[in-house]
Amino acid sequence: MNITAPRGTKDILPEDTAKWQYLENITRKIFSSYNFKEIRTPLFEATELFQRGIGEATDIVEKEMYTFEDKGGRSITLRPEGTASVVRSFLENKIYGQAQPTKYFYIGSMFRYERPQAGRYREFHQLGVEVLGSDNPAIDAEIIALGLQLLEELGLDNLELHLNSVGCPKCRAEYREKLINYFKPYLEELCSDCQDRYDRNPLRILDCKVDRGKEFMNNAPKIYEELCEECEDDFDQVKEFLDLLDIDYILDANLVRGLDYYTKTAFEVIYKGLGAQDTIFGGGRYDGLAEEVGGRDIPGIGFAMGMERILLTLEEQGIELPIDNSIDLFITTIGEKANKEAFKYLHKLRKAGLKVEMDYLGRSVKSQMKAADRNNANYSIILGEDELEKGVATIRNMTSGEQIEIKLENLVEEMEKRID
Ligand code: HAM
Repeated sequence: MNITAPRGTKDILPEDTAKWQYLENITRKIFSSYNFKEIRTPLFEATELFQRGIGEATDIVEKEMYTFEDKGGRSITLRPEGTASVVRSFLENKIYGQAQPTKYFYIGSMFRYERPQAGRYREFHQLGVEVLGSDNPAIDAEIIALGLQLLEELGLDNLELHLNSVGCPKCRAEYREKLINYFKPYLEELCSDCQDRYDRNPLRILDCKVDRGKEFMNNAPKIYEELCEECEDDFDQVKEFLDLLDIDYILDANLVRGLDYYTKTAFEVIYKGLGAQDTIFGGGRYDGLAEEVGGRDIPGIGFAMGMERILLTLEEQGIELPIDNSIDLFITTIGEKANKEAFKYLHKLRKAGLKVEMDYLGRSVKSQMKAADRNNANYSIILGEDELEKGVATIRNMTSGEQIEIKLENLVEEMEKRID
């Protein structure tokens, strides 16, 4: 029996790990310039957190969670997203007692039992930010700017920012009624999923991929035209702050997001070239979530980006990340004695911080030179009996072919000079 990785999961092999590390490093750099601090929460949580936080009537909670009973009889769920966990942690650790707002970011695996396809996996990785403790609309614009900056610094373009406001429980309840009345005559024409959504979650009809494009969908009442005064004012300010930063957006009344905790601002950044799964990042405000999971009225906003989707977009746009997978030196040896001497130098060079490799398979000089190439060595040296006797070595620059003889005892310093 051949055991393979579970459906919807992927090994990340070293040639790809380098890209992931690059992405994580640039994320940490940019996020810290916006003063976000990293938080790491458990990969699994009490199931109830997601039921209450994300909402019982969402696809995630209804169909996509990896839920199991642990040996202690507790219902546990592998996290399908990071926001509920961050809010739980914020409350549990009483972070609200410190100076606000709190700006956290996270990078890690999430798990959803979805039908795998390009850009959609069962274990996937998100990098996300959450700001808790401020309802200032400037923060909404700030995190959108942050997400876009990251993608732009990676070299991506042709991204679309879609923006909506999903209002507050008060105006959304009224809008919900309007929507139910509006869709009533079209109930038969809706897809079977939407007929189901009609009673439980009618806003989700708006972003249905099946019903999209049907005439009556275009004329549905727009939520951003039905906001209460407070939400409208808030939305105007978000747009104004985006304008201040010269960030273009597309008003999108059908953007309702798949999680129930959103209030007011909701947004997604899309790259059309990705096909069906074209959202690179999505997020919004969730001013009622802390109340829902911990009984405290604390506003919040955040987004999460699918890291696989960032990498797919880079590929689609033909962008090579500037990844250096070279080593500084490969030591080729001839004979047992030289091999042992090289082994000592290998250790010294590595202790000096250089990336160095040698042959361990007793290969011919020719094969060792090939190994130097395969390892992308910038320099190589050959050590044999002769070199040892004379106490010299020839350093070869693998790109230019230039060779220079040095004293073997100076090898570490000579190499340090060449590598900055
Ligand atoms: P979400 O829209 O469910 O939001 O996911 C955010 C991003 O994660 C998506 O735009 C997509 O790039 C990626 N993603 C989601 N599911 C998958 C999947 N199965 N395979 C690959 N990538 C996927 C959230 O998770 C919210 N917690 C975002 C948020 C943070 N809102 C406020 N704060």
